[in-house]
Amino acid sequence: MKIILFSQNKHKVKEIESIFSPSKEHYVRVYTEFIEPFCVVENGESFKDNAILKLRFLSQKLPKSLSKDFILMSEDSGICVQSLDNQPGIYSSRYANIDDFSDKESILKAKDSSDEANINKLINSLKNKGLESSKATFISCVAVLKNEQILTTHGFLNGKVVTNKSGESGFGYDPIFIPNGYSESLAVLGDVVKDTISHRFKALKLMKILLK
Ligand code: IMP
Repeated sequence: MKIILFSQNKHKVKEIESIFSPSKEHYVRVYTEFIEPFCVVENGESFKDNAILKLRFLSQKLPKSLSKDFILMSEDSGICVQSLDNQPGIYSSRYANIDDFSDKESILKAKDSSDEANINKLINSLKNKGLESSKATFISCVAVLKNEQILTTHGFLNGKVVTNKSGESGFGYDPIFIPNGYSESLAVLGDVVKDTISHRFKALKLMKILLK
């Protein structure tokens, strides 16, 4: 199955490629191999809204001939922290640039921030509440356009966020997220473990079933 993936995040692309095409049964190409990179304003209300939004833009921008030969795929993900009212959620990539979560207009104008800035903001938010950890869940929504039909799946990874960073592997909030059943962060556990338990792995596994 030939897939064109919409993502600008090279870590995500690597994860999705290694989860989705180990048997060469699936073949993933990144959209920038065909067209210039472009940004999508992620103004949906959920991971699913944003994944579908990305998918629709991708299908509009790609030459129609390609959409016939390939399945189009997008993904939206983030982390929901229980003690922070499930923030940053769908705003995970721009968390450090958001001052007021009740001001939707300014949230939509906020640009993505660095992983380091996002992690530091999350750590400070926990510390400001006198906490050293909180339950948290990573969520991924994968969306696919196949034969003009949109399919979506979700995956979840439960665990906790902590105020001390550890590990070098992965990206985003990996250095402060410890999955349930483990005592190390995802950034210490590394790709091999992450790619068999992650929210993206679970959403992609379900998508593989839907695409069969
Ligand atoms: P998106 O690219 O708009 O879906 O934003 C995803 C953001 O959520 C990333 O920039 C990270 O901050 C966070 N995120 C999603 N998945 C992961 C993960 O597997 N590990 C760490 N952070 C993640």
